[in-house]
Amino acid sequence: MITDYSQNLIVQEVSPRDGLQIEPTWVETVDKIALINQLSVAGFSRIEAGSFVSPKAIPALRDGEQVFKGIARQPGVIYVALVPNLKGAQRALESGADELNLVLSASQTHNLANMRMRCEASLTAFGEVVEFVRGAQVRLNGSIATTFGCPFEGRIDEDRVLQIVEAYQELGIQGITLADTTGMANPRQVERLVRRVVQRVSPADLTLHFHNTRGLGLCNVLAAYEAGARRFDAALGGLGGCPFAPGASGNICTEDLVNLCDEMGIATGIDLPHLLAMSRKLPALLGHELPGQVAKAGRNCDLHPTPGHVAAL
Ligand code: COA
Ligand code: ZN
Repeated sequence: MITDYSQNLIVQEVSPRDGLQIEPTWVETVDKIALINQLSVAGFSRIEAGSFVSPKAIPALRDGEQVFKGIARQPGVIYVALVPNLKGAQRALESGADELNLVLSASQTHNLANMRMRCEASLTAFGEVVEFVRGAQVRLNGSIATTFGCPFEGRIDEDRVLQIVEAYQELGIQGITLADTTGMANPRQVERLVRRVVQRVSPADLTLHFHNTRGLGLCNVLAAYEAGARRFDAALGGLGGCPFAPGASGNICTEDLVNLCDEMGIATGIDLPHLLAMSRKLPALLGHELPGQVAKAGRNCDLHPTPGHVAAL
């Protein structure tokens, strides 16, 4: 089958949430706000700007209220907040989030590690969130962590994932994210599952969330795109990871994904030079190097001067 690469690819930037949640260094509220404000003018239509979870679970994001209230909102950008329960939804709404991203894991063990409750209890909590936001101008998205594998339980049954998709839909939640929390997915598996899920979820409502833990992140993006997915989470610099999943590491890197799309002629609407400039400032902010590759190598079109000895020949 020949893939039609003329279909736009939507990148949802998640560095302010997935990216910063695992960082050991405290990032000041003003620096978080500056990061989001600069991302807001890079061409993204969606930015996951923080989470409203227990500050004991994720101390790095305990300033969610100040961040959401402090950002300069760019028209046309949807600012998303990750939320685990009713209390999180109340905080997020009060802070002006446009969309609540509810998360539960396909794996019971990872849900217990991450959310300290069984999957059934998460779904009950999401029912309360749905009731709470009824009538409010806020969108809902349901994420399924460990969709493609769990660091504790291993393989996840595809039917289990489909059941959770259905459970979200029964609650009236339209948006669905399939998340590969610790980079266990492979392209064949991704293509197979996405083909099944797009029969129930419109590509406009479906997001794929990959981590590059085993180097397969962008391969999985292409496999999902070829199977009909159009929206992908990614983090500047390749930041990211779940602190409650052993061995977790960065999301797929936004600028590497945008570079891939630019080179293949897949439109994203995102300003790559702007992202590269932003990404190159991250080591100073966070105190370590980042896994992103294009920020180090430059784009294909960033040519080098001809070496002197070649010019002399
Ligand atoms: N925001 C802020 N505080 C919250 C909260 C929220 N969304 N939900 C619960 N809390 C507080 C409670 O008020 C209570 O505070 P207290 O000790 O001062 O009384 C405390 O947290 C414990 O509440 P409880 O309902 O018993 O929560 P828990 O300890 O069982 O933890 C979660 C459950 C879901 C709140 C917690 O596991 C969590 O926040 N997980 C998210 C982890 C995450 O973000 N992972 C990465 C993204 S996938
Ligand atoms: Zn993630």
